[in-house]
Amino acid sequence: MAARKFFVGGNWKMNGDKKSLGDLITTLNTAALHDETEVVCGAPTIYLDFARANLDPKIGVAAQNCYKVAKGAFTGEISPAMIKDCGIDWVILGHSERRHVFGEGDELIGQKVAHALENDLSVIACIGEKLEEREAGTTEEVVYAQTKVIADNVKDWAKVVLAYEPVWAIGTGKTATPEQAQEVHEKLREWIRANISDAVADSVRILYGGSVTGGNCKELASQPDVDGFLVGGASLKPEFVDIINARA
Ligand code: PGA
Repeated sequence: MAARKFFVGGNWKMNGDKKSLGDLITTLNTAALHDETEVVCGAPTIYLDFARANLDPKIGVAAQNCYKVAKGAFTGEISPAMIKDCGIDWVILGHSERRHVFGEGDELIGQKVAHALENDLSVIACIGEKLEEREAGTTEEVVYAQTKVIADNVKDWAKVVLAYEPVWAIGTGKTATPEQAQEVHEKLREWIRANISDAVADSVRILYGGSVTGGNCKELASQPDVDGFLVGGASLKPEFVDIINARA
């Protein structure tokens, strides 16, 4: 089985300013980060250039969203071409807040994934069920359907990581248990094996996101199908270093 490099993404969301993000960047640049972990920080659009200019080159930067076409009359949007032009290689797409606060549907998310990949951006593609869906027993159905829309728009899986983020765990302090995370990750990998290929199932990184902290990261990271994290709140704190080093 192909070894999957552990991947830790930080999602700063709409937080920080040059002072606080600058301090965080200094912490990351000077910390001892495990060599075997790929690290990517998702900065607010206006600070993408600042983050790229100041973060150590070994730390990647991600935009938190982008639009589905290269340019035009789309006030307020940014394109993958612009993101690449700022030296940034990643974009987070389909995040729960884009889906549920800003009403982005699967079709639009799929179009964004396709366009980002066509423009050589790598994509952190997010999926996850809401509490009522979990309680209704439809978690698998929901995450398979979301994954299918993403998969239909991916040609090169080497440029995609999948982030499983149960909506009920995001920003709530209610982390999925290691068993709950492992169960969904394993099923997602089986779905990928059945619907895409063995090679993609073995190589694609499936991240867990939702109230990951320095305290719970090691146990989550010990699960065989948890290949990393997408971290919100704790990515703004020095404990992000502990999360990066969860497998060290
Ligand atoms: P959280 O956010 O770690 O604050 O729960 C995770 C995310 O939204 O990616």
